[in-house]
Amino acid sequence: MKALDVKIPKAPYTIHIDNWNLDLAKDIIQKHCQEEKLYIITNTTVKKLYQKKLRPLFSPNLKAIWITIPDGERYKRLSSCEKIHEELILKKANRSSLILALGGGVVGDIAGFVAATYMRGIAYIQMPTTLLAQVDSSVGGKTGVDLKAGKNLVGAFYQPKAVIVLTRFLKTLPKKEIINGLAEVIKYALIADNHIFYYLDTHYENIFKHDTQTLDKIIHLCLSIKANIVAKDEKENDQRALLNFGHSIGHAIELLKNYKNIKHGEAVAMGMVYASELSSSLGFLAKNDLLAIKLLITKMGLVTAWPSFTKTAYKIALLKDKKAQDENIRFICLTKIGKAHIEDLSLNTILQCLKR
Ligand code: NAD
Ligand code: GLY
Repeated sequence: MKALDVKIPKAPYTIHIDNWNLDLAKDIIQKHCQEEKLYIITNTTVKKLYQKKLRPLFSPNLKAIWITIPDGERYKRLSSCEKIHEELILKKANRSSLILALGGGVVGDIAGFVAATYMRGIAYIQMPTTLLAQVDSSVGGKTGVDLKAGKNLVGAFYQPKAVIVLTRFLKTLPKKEIINGLAEVIKYALIADNHIFYYLDTHYENIFKHDTQTLDKIIHLCLSIKANIVAKDEKENDQRALLNFGHSIGHAIELLKNYKNIKHGEAVAMGMVYASELSSSLGFLAKNDLLAIKLLITKMGLVTAWPSFTKTAYKIALLKDKKAQDENIRFICLTKIGKAHIEDLSLNTILQCLKR
C-alpha cells in the first residue's frame, strides 16, 4: 500500500493506493464514518460489477446504502443531483453522513457535488474505478455537472476526506476506457515529468495487460504531480491551470460533438496535439518534441487529428469554456516534453493552427 498526502492547507487528506486491500479500505471508511451506514453513490454498470465483490467492506456495524444513477456523461446534470438529494432525504442521510463516490469521473464529479451541496456540505470519500479517475479526477476536489451551454459549468471546489485507489477495478475496464485514461497520463507526462513520457513509450503494453506494478507506478507518479499542484493552488488561481493542458480545445470538441461518440480523454488527446502544434508554431516547442508527442499519442490508440468544424464554431465553443476571459484565453502551452507554461492568447492566435 502506498500513501500520498494532499497538503491542501484547510482540507488535507491522504490518497491510498493498493491493488485490492479491502481491509485497509474498510479501516479508512470507518475512520471517517460517524454512523453505522455508508451512502454509496455509483452508476448501474459499476454496481452490477462490484456490489458483491465489495461486501467485505460491510458488516452489521456498517451498512451499505446504494444510490444508483444511469451510466453516461449525459447524466452529469443538475437533474441527477436533485434525484440523489431526494433519495438521500428518503434514506435519512443527515449532516454526519458519509458518501462514497464509487465510479469513474462522471460519478466522482456528481457525487462530490452532491456531497458539497447536501445540507450545505457533508463528508465524502472518492473510490475511483476508471483509469482516468484513478490518475486524475478523484483528487483535487473539482466537483460539478454540465449545462447545455458547456462542460462543468456548475460546480464547487470540495475536497474529499480520503481517496482510495484500488487498481484491481481496472481489470473489468474495457480497453477503450483504459485508452481514454491514458490521455490524462500523457497530460501529466507532458506538463510535468518527461520520465513518465519515456516510461509510457516502453511500458504501455503492460498497462493493457493490467500489470499491477506498471499501473501502480503510473498512478502514483500522476497523483504525486496532481497532489503537489493542488496543494499549492487549490482553486486554480495560478499553477493548477497547467492541469488544463489540452482541455480548452478538448472541451470545445466535446461540446461541438454534443458529447456524443467522443470520450473526454479522446477529446483531450486531440486538444493536446493541437496545443503542441500551436506551441511549436509560436516557437515554444521544438519540432522533434512535437513529432514524439504525436507518435506516442498514436501508439496509445488515440487519434491526433481534431474534427474539422469551422473556425467560428470553435470560437463560439471556446468562449463558452470557463477559462475564457473576454476574447482572450488562458491557454496552456508546452515548453518541452515535461514542462508547460501559461499564455494569455487571443482566439485568433489560438485558432491559427486549425487548418493543419
Ligand atoms: P465515466 O465515469 O463515464 O466512466 C467510463 C465508463 O466506464 C462508464 O461507462 C462507466 O460505467 C464504466 N466503468 C467505470 N468503472 C468501471 C470498471 N471498473 N469496470 C468496468 N466499467 C467501468 O468516464 P471517466 O473517463 O472515468 O470520467 C470522465 C469524466 O470525468 C468527465 O465528465 C470529465 O469531465 C470528468 N473529469 C473530472 C476531473 C476532475 O478533476 N474533477 C478531471 C478529469 C475529468
Ligand atoms: N483535471 C484538472 C484539475 O483537476 O484541475
